[in-house]
Amino acid sequence: MQLNSERERKRERITNSVDETRCLASQFGKIAEPGSIFLLCGDLGTGKTAFAQGLGAGLGVEGSISSPSFSLLKEYSSGRLPFFHADLYRVGAAALADIGLEDVINCGVIAVEWADLAPLEYFEEYLLIRFTGLGPESRKLTFEPVGGMGERLLEAVLGT
Ligand SMILES: Nc1ncnc2c1ncn2[C@@H]1O[C@H](COP(=O)(O)OP(=O)(O)OP(=O)(O)O)[C@@H](O)[C@H]1O
Ligand SMILES: [Mg+2]
Repeated sequence: MQLNSERERKRERITNSVDETRCLASQFGKIAEPGSIFLLCGDLGTGKTAFAQGLGAGLGVEGSISSPSFSLLKEYSSGRLPFFHADLYRVGAAALADIGLEDVINCGVIAVEWADLAPLEYFEEYLLIRFTGLGPESRKLTFEPVGGMGERLLEAVLGT
């Protein structure tokens, strides 16, 4: 039990600026594999889009990555792997079928904001990241891997 909770603790990071969040995310982008799925959950303004921007930067995506709120899925193809960015906040879980994520799940890297609006069983393996606001510039990121892909990503970036 003790060991477990120590492991859990190591699976949290606190960032103290938006750049720190982007920088942490870019480390995941650098080592993401085809089929890496990042489910980004947390209240408004806690840094989910910032994390997605860092992921894209780490993948080498050129240009800016903005919130996909008004399109179901944005695709960026200029990086090392195709990068797909979705946001379920306005479209809800019902739109998952329309987004066509299942068509892209194995070929690129996927980030889904407000993923907890969908049934998580929809995704087989993923790295879920919960964002919590601690103060104006500080955010807690809690990492919850499901399956080997999430474990590999965490091991590589957090060393745990
Ligand atoms: N440590 C931090 N990490 C990330 N963002 C931060 C941090 N500190 C301050 N911020 C600010 O918080 C805001 C985060 O906005 P962002 O759009 O990334 O949030 P979000 O979780 O995607 O929100 P939404 O649910 O509306 O999509 C930005 O204005 C950013 O500058
Ligand atoms: Mg957002």
